[in-house]
Amino acid sequence: MAGIDHKRLEEPDIGYIAQLLRAHPEDEAESLFRCSDRVRKCSVGDSVHVRGIIEFSNYCSRNCLYCGLRRDNGRLKRYRMTPDEIIAVSKTAIQNGYRTIVLQSGEDPYYSASDIARIVDRIKDLGDVAVTLSVGERSHSEYATMKAAGADRFLLKHETADPDLYRKLHPGKSLDERIECLKSLKDLGFQIGSGFIIGLPSQTVSTIARDIALLKELDVDMAGIGPFIPHPDTPLASHPAGDVRLTLKALAVTRLVLPHAHLPATTALSTLHRDGRRLALSSGANVIMPNITPARYRELYEIYPDSASLSDPEHGGIREIAEMLESMGRRLSKTRGDSFRRRRQSEHSRAQGMPGMRGGLRR
Ligand code: 5AD
Ligand code: SF4
Repeated sequence: MAGIDHKRLEEPDIGYIAQLLRAHPEDEAESLFRCSDRVRKCSVGDSVHVRGIIEFSNYCSRNCLYCGLRRDNGRLKRYRMTPDEIIAVSKTAIQNGYRTIVLQSGEDPYYSASDIARIVDRIKDLGDVAVTLSVGERSHSEYATMKAAGADRFLLKHETADPDLYRKLHPGKSLDERIECLKSLKDLGFQIGSGFIIGLPSQTVSTIARDIALLKELDVDMAGIGPFIPHPDTPLASHPAGDVRLTLKALAVTRLVLPHAHLPATTALSTLHRDGRRLALSSGANVIMPNITPARYRELYEIYPDSASLSDPEHGGIREIAEMLESMGRRLSKTRGDSFRRRRQSEHSRAQGMPGMRGGLRR
């Protein structure tokens, strides 16, 4: 690879992205990783943002073929955390230095939008923290209720940009519906995160190139890219795991296409490779998302087996992370780690005297 043609990544040119993803001799791929590391340093800096994830319910009404939480997995013991439990965990995390709390669950209609809004409101009262929601597809008005309570960000991965593959993997659902949700969230003022899985059946490098182009089209603030890991109690039990190197290349190219995005070193990557977190941070990633779910629930949130999540803050998780980062010449961010682009936009709206949503709409 004789240098990278950044112009062709701006549009972006899908054929060219696929060509970069195919880079296979050792030195070609290494030069891609070096380039994405430089772009990461110039556009988002050396700070690494840490987001604490609370997996508050493993009930799911969907039946994604790859996921252990799917509705038809009758072998999984299900749980729901109460709002008080969620608040207690958030409080400890904030005391331990977390500036973002991510509330994640399966698609669980048990919690109404107002239930989620009340939890968000209570977390926002604990301090200057960002709240990210990852609770799946809901209506525009439900998302509006959550936003009005002060939720800042929303994660909803598109999973694959191939509409036929999407339909096969998500019975009764469509990629269009997914994209509509992401657009709704963006219209409401959420910082949005999407992402996709590497190693799905029938996926090719061209599919992955389209995944990256879709991130650009959606103009996402964050993107999570992780390898597929087979779960024994799903229809994809015997499908091989995704390729670690291809995942790193997809992450690196995403950094080149979206220089200012927040890109996490995903847990799935660390599960497949013991140095996955470090490799991702050297190939474009600038976020880590330790799991702060209480251990008795965490073991039941089995999307795939052997999830290599980082330990919770009671066990010094955040200190361990700071040490690992220092050894890499990076540092733990002390800020909330809002979207780089959105931050500039909200500074602009403040300058124009536009009011923020929370406060006016709070119940
Ligand atoms: N392997 C890797 N990632 C998975 N996810 C779900 N199941 C798997 C699996 N078997 C990811 C999806 C989903 C997120 C919660 O976990 O991308 O959005
Ligand atoms: Fe449910 Fe998400 Fe798993 Fe699909 S990937 S079954 S929506 S938890």
